[in-house]
Formats: sequence, C-alpha cells, structure tokens
Amino acid sequence: MDKAQILVASNRGPVSFSFGEDGSLDYRRGGGGLVSGLSSVASSTDTMWVCAALSDADRAAAARAPEARLDLAGYELDMRVRMLDIPPDTFTDAYTRVANSTLWFVHHMLYDTPNKPRFDAAFRSQWEGFRSYNAAFAEALLTGSADNARVAVQDYHLALVPRLLRQRRPDLRIAHFSHTPWAPPEYFRMLPADIRRELLEGMLGADHLGFLSRRWADAFLRCCETFLRVDVDWEQRTVEFGGRLIHLGVHSLGADAESLRERAAAEDVEQWRTRLRERVGEAKLVVRVDRTELSKNIVRGLEAFRELLHEHPEWHGRVTHLAFAYPSRGDVPEYREYTEQVQRVAKEINQEFATADWSPLILEVQDDFARSLAAYRMADVLLINPIRDGMNLVAKEAPTLSDDGCALVLSSEAGAADELGEDAILVNPYDVSETARALRTALEMPDDERRARCERLVESATALPPKRWFEAQLRALK
Ligand code: G6P
Repeated sequence: MDKAQILVASNRGPVSFSFGEDGSLDYRRGGGGLVSGLSSVASSTDTMWVCAALSDADRAAAARAPEARLDLAGYELDMRVRMLDIPPDTFTDAYTRVANSTLWFVHHMLYDTPNKPRFDAAFRSQWEGFRSYNAAFAEALLTGSADNARVAVQDYHLALVPRLLRQRRPDLRIAHFSHTPWAPPEYFRMLPADIRRELLEGMLGADHLGFLSRRWADAFLRCCETFLRVDVDWEQRTVEFGGRLIHLGVHSLGADAESLRERAAAEDVEQWRTRLRERVGEAKLVVRVDRTELSKNIVRGLEAFRELLHEHPEWHGRVTHLAFAYPSRGDVPEYREYTEQVQRVAKEINQEFATADWSPLILEVQDDFARSLAAYRMADVLLINPIRDGMNLVAKEAPTLSDDGCALVLSSEAGAADELGEDAILVNPYDVSETARALRTALEMPDDERRARCERLVESATALPPKRWFEAQLRALK
C-alpha cells in the first residue's frame, strides 16, 4: 500500500469488529467526536488511522488483514485503518495499568492517597509494557508514513510516541492532542522523577501540542518549567526544548450539530422518546448521561438529587432523574466498586422517596445511544458535575438536541465551562448542597430564560465542530 500523508494514532480506533453468528467478521463505526471529525478529511486525502485491536474480533480482523481500507458509506467513513495486535499482557500493562489506573488518575486528580498510588517493582514492569505499546504505535506510524507526512497522535495513552517518531524521522510533522485535563505540577509530582521526565519529553517530541482548555495547556507548561527547567514563553505558549520551539494550542472541540440532529431524528430515537414519556408522565426531567467513570462524580450527583428531594418536598411526584451510567473500564477494580456504589445509592433514593405512581430516579446501566439521544431531546435540566474533565462533550451535545431548551448545571472543573460558563449554572463538583440548589434553580427557571440561555449554549457548543477542530490541528503543522 502507498504511504499515507496524514496519519492519526489513538488507542481506540474508528471502528470495532464483531463476530457474526457464522463466525464472519463485521464492523461498525466507533463513537466519539474524533471519528466524525476525521471522516470528512479522510475521504478526500490519503489518511491512515493506527489504533489498537481491543477485542478478540478486532484481533482476528488484524490477523487477517493488518491494514484495511474500510468503507462505511452511511457514515461517510472511508479510510485506511491499521489495527495493532499488541500482545495481551503488554496491552493490559499499558492500557489498564499505566494509562487508565495511573495517568488517568493523575490528570483527573482521583487518588485517595493513603494507599494509592504506589510506584513499586510491579509498576516498573507495567511501565515497560507502556513503553513497548508506545513503540509498537511508533513503528506502525514510521512504516506507514510518506516523507514529510503529518501525524496526529491522540491522548495520554500515546504520550511517548512523538519523541519516538522524531528520533527516527525528523521529516515528520507531529502533533499530539490531549483529550484529558493536565495535572498541575503540585499533583503531577507524585509520579517518579524519571517517569515525569519521560512523559514530558515524550510529548515534547511533537511540533504542536493541543489541549481542550487553556487551563490544561497552562498546567502542562507549568510542569515543563518545574520538572524540565526549560524556557517557556507564556505569551506565545511555546517551549524551547532540544533546540526546537514547540507550540501549544487550545482547540476546544465542539459538538457536531449536523450529524447529531440527523441521528436524533431517527425512528428509534422517536420510539425511545415515546417510551420514556409514558414512563415518567408529566414529571420534569433531570438528565445525566455518562460512562460510569470515577471522574464523572455520579455519586455526588445522585446525592445532590436526594438533597433536593429532602429539602423541597414540593418537587415530589413532579421531577424524575434519568441517570444513564454506561459500563466503562470494568477491568479496573475501582471502576467496578464505583459502579456498585452508584447502583446502591440509586436504590436507596428510590426506597426512600418512590410512591406507587412515581419513580424519582431511573438508573440505566446498559449503553443505548438512541435512548441517550432521546433523553437529550427531552431534558429540562442537564446535570454534568465531573470532578475534572478535559471537555465533556455531553454538555455540548445535549443542549444542541434539546426540543424545548434545557437548563445546564455544569461543574466549573469541566473544560466545557470555559465556553458555556455564562449560560450554565456552574457548581463546585464537591459541593453537594450547592449542586442541589443549582438543580432547584434550574428546575424553576422561567421558560423564556431557559430557552434563551439554551440557544446561547448551542451557539458556543457548536462553534468548533469536529471537522474544523481536526483541520486546526493539521493547519498548526504546516
Ligand atoms: C476519554 C479519553 C479517550 C477514551 C474515552 C473512553 O474520553 O480521553 O481517549 O477513548 O475516554 O475510554 P476508553 O478507555 O473506553 O477508551
């Protein structure tokens, strides 16, 4: 196959494979803004996407054809995909242990520090796995790229890749984009000194480093100053390193209004809308949709709803909380415990308040995209209260689909608060009482005000749709 001019690398790729009943392989498009952003670019240029095989079916597909041209006409996805069959132990060390149980925890500041983290011999061997996994991505990108190709590396899983590419191919133009927050130096310092350095220097192998919020870009620069003692130009947002100037950019990914609206008008979404309405009757709806993810702060969100019902019995029978908490990272023990906790608290709330004809809380734990879209359309209030979040696209997507305008209760610690802060009701995610009060304010907001605020939310939320967001990254490499 020809070498590609534009390459994307991410752990989770644009498609996932599954086995049909007869053992044949089928694929469907993966979720996420990056996929929709890329599809338009990919169909017009020579683009290759390198990702990890995440399931047995992915691995079987990778074994059959390591690189394939995938065509999903209905989704406008037409590109070359190279799925890497990383040895399972290496993948577990890299993805489950280092990326998700360590780096994710650091950047989202999730540790309960008396026992974790602990950087011991076991961690050191996992770190070796993380290195090999990054090296496997680098190798695939090196062999697949044309001279002077542009490479867009995505996220914390692949922090070491830019440097590995630069060492062997200085002709490449390399971007790295962080979809998470970046930890401030006071927190990042808990990582062992050599690993802090390896991560920062790994990323500084790029020409351009993208972040979702100024706050995260600034935290990265502060880490560089603190741990690498390099010169930072705060005005230009550049770092001098290894005789090169590395530029930082803030590109705040927005919602893809067009494709969302088209999807949300489909028959299955309509059916869910009818079904949900039958189930909740005339009650107003407080909606949240998340992965069951520690950083999403679902338990405190449920507690805030409980406090609202305690303090304001006038809302009994008149409000229902639809909480969709979808499975995520079940191989990390903390996530399994958290899922149980979410279910326990939800049950308690229903036991305390439910009546024969009113369920205060409906918790759904099975992923259903059409049902989520129906809930976005119907929400009177949207609750998004992460402890820390790179952006939080639900905060942008749900208002975009709202049938009659929704009020947004939003954590100040989400990247999305940068743009939506004026028309959302901002809350401190740790402050359950403040969140409860915000829910009440949102529920009681006059219709006109709610609609007007939602209109402005949509304007900000759709300002940089995925296609333009991705093009901005590529432009930064010219
Ligand atoms: C975040 C990360 C993505 C990741 C997604 C889902 O948004 O920034 O890189 O793909 O979570 O997590 P998962 O571990 O299931 O891929």
